[in-house]
Amino acid sequence: MKFSFSAVFISVLLGSASLVSSRPVKGGKKMTMGAAQGQAVGAAYFITNEDSGNFVVSADIGADGKLNLRQAISTGGFGQHGDDGAATPGPDGTFTQGAIKASAASNMLATVNPGSNTLSLFSIDSANPSALKQVGLPVSSGGEFPVSLAFNSAGDSVCALNGGEVNGVNCFKVDKTKGLVPIAGTNRDLGLNQTTPANGPPGTASHIIFSEDGSQLIASIKGVPPTPGFLAIWDVAQDGSLSQDFNSLAPADGGLLPFSMTLIKGKSAILATDAGLGFDIFDLSAGGAQGNASQVAAGKSSANAIDGQVATCWSSFSPKTGNFYLTDVGTSLVTEIHVDDNLKGTLVKQYPQGNGTATIDNDIATVGDNDFMYVLQPNSTSISVLSLNAPGQAQNTQTVDIAGPAKNAGLTVGVSLQGMTTFIRK
Ligand SMILES: *[C@@H]1O[C@H](CO)[C@@H](O)[C@H](O)[C@H]1NC(C)=O
Ligand SMILES: *[C@@H]1O[C@H](CO)[C@@H](O)[C@H](O)[C@H]1NC(C)=O
Ligand SMILES: *[C@@H]1O[C@H](CO)[C@@H](O)[C@H](O)[C@H]1NC(C)=O
Ligand SMILES: *[C@@H]1O[C@H](CO)[C@@H](O)[C@H](O)[C@H]1NC(C)=O
Repeated sequence: MKFSFSAVFISVLLGSASLVSSRPVKGGKKMTMGAAQGQAVGAAYFITNEDSGNFVVSADIGADGKLNLRQAISTGGFGQHGDDGAATPGPDGTFTQGAIKASAASNMLATVNPGSNTLSLFSIDSANPSALKQVGLPVSSGGEFPVSLAFNSAGDSVCALNGGEVNGVNCFKVDKTKGLVPIAGTNRDLGLNQTTPANGPPGTASHIIFSEDGSQLIASIKGVPPTPGFLAIWDVAQDGSLSQDFNSLAPADGGLLPFSMTLIKGKSAILATDAGLGFDIFDLSAGGAQGNASQVAAGKSSANAIDGQVATCWSSFSPKTGNFYLTDVGTSLVTEIHVDDNLKGTLVKQYPQGNGTATIDNDIATVGDNDFMYVLQPNSTSISVLSLNAPGQAQNTQTVDIAGPAKNAGLTVGVSLQGMTTFIRK
């Protein structure tokens, strides 16, 4: 952990526990970043992931889909930047999607604290979704360098992906009074040869999701070229426990670095961004079957190049347009992909978000009868909002500055900003 003057100063300022203490401390310290502007229909959330203390930043989503930054709340844990080999660490400190997740089913929000090997849980006030209340103390993630989370569809359990030296998955019951309670039989190893913090991006854990029917828990792992990465697939039992071993599914020929995973609904398939190529399609109906420990994705699976891509790593789906939206940290482009009934993916259009802004985590929310995409850009300390009116017709509607409001609030933010998740009031 870096030990700088500002880290000490912030720690004293916030009254948080000593930087060397590993005892879980309650977070909940709030900083106001902006005033309410009318009634919010929902909120967008991301984390600062700073090693001086991790904060969840909330922004109201208005009826027009636009954001209004409202507050930051301490998680009671620390952030941490992975080792990307650069003298000055770049954007995407965790090498992952899903560092923070909201569940509209249970009105709960969970985040990783990569620097303290813990997870924090919050409840969302649906009348005022930017206002979060911490539930319980941060709990051990069951491994090191926790970097991605997945809620089940009911929102009453959450699984974490640990990407450090002690890597694997671990699941928790979401108890609205006590907080996160470990579920027996879910602490499972990945067996990656990694360090804490992780060294990457190649060879690191990327993302964790549940399959559409909840019967499988799936983690994506990047390869170390020329060796391709893989999906690790565990079966989820009725009691929430996981199969002892995972099935390993490599991408179709040409795939290298599976990163984010977005379900292709109704198809038993996944669109995974591939930082080394563009995107991979995994046809799960033809691969990952129980009893087959290691295979290459078959059936209608494919590995697809995006011309000129540098590192396509994050993705979301828009119900409104029926298309997938991918972000590339190197080109700062949003790429819209259509996947047809035969699982064939084609590029629809690309949307520049400003060279050098580093488009990373994103999420899509339905507001009224429109969809909106929220793209985190740590290198410009901002968020871009796109209105997804129709296929091929995304439009930028807002650029949200994070740096100014953070400075006014005394909140440390920078290139470590990570995660993007949205909540829309029912
Ligand atoms: C693990 O990675 C380190 C660093 O790349 C390497 O030196 C070592 O040989 C690896 N160990 C195994 C068992 O692959
Ligand atoms: C495992 O997968 C391979 C390659 O896809 C296939 O040939 C083999 O029959 C499968 N084995 C079982 C037990 O399903
Ligand atoms: C952004 O970068 C691309 C690729 O290098 C270049 O073609 C384009 O002109 C740049 N756009 C701007 C606005 O500088
Ligand atoms: C981030 O900004 C710096 C300084 O402007 C630039 O040199 C670097 O290329 C940018 N990084 C990315 C990933 O866009």
